[in-house]
Amino acid sequence: MRPAGCNRLPIGVFDSGVGGLTVLCAMARRLPNESFIYLGDTARLPYGTKSSDTVNRYSLQAVGKLVERRVKLLVTACNTATAAALPALALAHPDIPLVGVVDPGAEAACRATRNGSILVLATESTIRNRAYDRAIAARMPRARVMGIACSLFVALAEEGWVDGPIVEGAAVRYLEPLLRGPAEDFPDTVVLACTHFPPMAGAIGKALGREAVLVDSAETTAVAVERVLDERCLRAPGGAAGALGFLTTDAPERFAKVGSFFLGREIAPADVELVAL
Ligand code: DGL
Repeated sequence: MRPAGCNRLPIGVFDSGVGGLTVLCAMARRLPNESFIYLGDTARLPYGTKSSDTVNRYSLQAVGKLVERRVKLLVTACNTATAAALPALALAHPDIPLVGVVDPGAEAACRATRNGSILVLATESTIRNRAYDRAIAARMPRARVMGIACSLFVALAEEGWVDGPIVEGAAVRYLEPLLRGPAEDFPDTVVLACTHFPPMAGAIGKALGREAVLVDSAETTAVAVERVLDERCLRAPGGAAGALGFLTTDAPERFAKVGSFFLGREIAPADVELVAL
């Protein structure tokens, strides 16, 4: 039975930009009574091509801003930030439970694979950190994990280009080493390990040209958040729908426009607050 809730504070969600709104969408659907405050650090996007030190520093500043607003739980919806900065964030805010997207994504991949061969598509930084390799190995030590950095996908998705010949061409180019490799190593599961990749699933699947399950961490992160809320008795009271608040570090109008696409519902520019980090 669902434990009775009483904590009305919002859940803080952080991403380098608007892509993490796909994770927010899954959480809001699963947890309709919860309120969320989402911060997209659009002024400094992309994180995915930056060094781990820089991603760490930016992530600490962004999460610090959410903590100032008083949140009961933190979600790092950004794969790059989760891979580089989760330990530093946990250390900086030991009293607030923290959920990242790497473990839920690895969980989904391990559940989906039949042949133990998993492809991780992510930003340069996430691939370099090998966070998915470790998270998958912890669950499935014999899994074979291959990582490919697809940084250009971020810019394409921000442009609203998620299918068609340009996106498919970029996908084929990125997947070339795999497509040229031995058939027996071909992965049966692909982790879309970047906030911007799930809307491109169709084009990526087409470029793969073979049967593979494409997984992302949005739904599994929502399940992980629900579990933590229950474990810590942090649920919001039932009965009323939760609210969504948006913070951005640059151009609220652009956040609202591009963000509406990722969230799957309209965001009014007036509902997006500009903040400095
Ligand atoms: N949010 C980032 C991620 O999930 C993608 C965008 C960026 O590079 O900042 O890795």
